[in-house]
Amino acid sequence: MSSFEVIIYEKQNGVAYVTLNRPKALNAYNIKMRDELYEVLGAIKEDDDVKVVILKAAGDKAFCAGADLTEFLTAPPPVFARRARFERDVWGRFLSVEQPVIAAMHGYVLGSGIEMSLCCDIRLASDDARFGLPEPGLGIIPAAGGSQTLPRTIGRAAALEILMSGRWIDAKEALKLKLVNKILPRPELLPAAEKLAQKIMCYPQPAVRAVKQAVWRGLDLSLTEGLELEARLAQQILKR
Ligand code: COA
Repeated sequence: MSSFEVIIYEKQNGVAYVTLNRPKALNAYNIKMRDELYEVLGAIKEDDDVKVVILKAAGDKAFCAGADLTEFLTAPPPVFARRARFERDVWGRFLSVEQPVIAAMHGYVLGSGIEMSLCCDIRLASDDARFGLPEPGLGIIPAAGGSQTLPRTIGRAAALEILMSGRWIDAKEALKLKLVNKILPRPELLPAAEKLAQKIMCYPQPAVRAVKQAVWRGLDLSLTEGLELEARLAQQILKR
């Protein structure tokens, strides 16, 4: 695998660690990060040695302070941007990873930072985490899936209030809204993610991957179709 500039990739005992690594810019999501995430997630998908993925970030202050505003201000015309997004659909790629993905978030979690985490299966946050979607204040809307994944995660009313007002929320409220599964003191964040990863890794992987598919795909279906999907996946597991 190539060496990366703005992410760090490590693999240890079945756990893949992907670390956002632009701490001086609060891990703002730039084009380089998009390309590197796209590449690493593609490699992870194909790697049967990887049982669980942990997404985390370097530095003290932030998981990710959203899209890189310096690039945003010099963005190419929308037609190119749209084409680039299509060619490098990193959010689709996140969702296509069959292994469970745990986000371990600290400090500022803004814009694409929240959206990235919403493409993960389980979200853990340190008690100092602060969440916000500043897009409306910038005259734009979330474009990394947030307008769809946020309401699917915390419900329509709460999502609309946060999206429309741009109000930031702290870790306690994020937990209350079920935006995150658990909050922990900062030193316990990564150990908690690792403990969870170990727990998940103890179970038969085809069952873990099938349950991920059943939940993610099922939520986009009617109940009847969802039950059919569940039955198909259950059959596939039995046949193995
Ligand atoms: N894009 C590019 N650079 C960013 C950034 C972003 N989204 N967010 C922070 N940075 C950079 C700052 O420019 C600064 O760089 P510098 O040291 O070269 O001046 C560095 O990260 C530290 O940020 P700073 O603003 O000094 O930290 P702070 O603790 O005072 O404030 C925030 C933190 C998150 C409140 C503030 O940085 C901020 O509002 N960032 C923009 C958030 C945003 O609107 N994101 C876009 C969402 S679509």
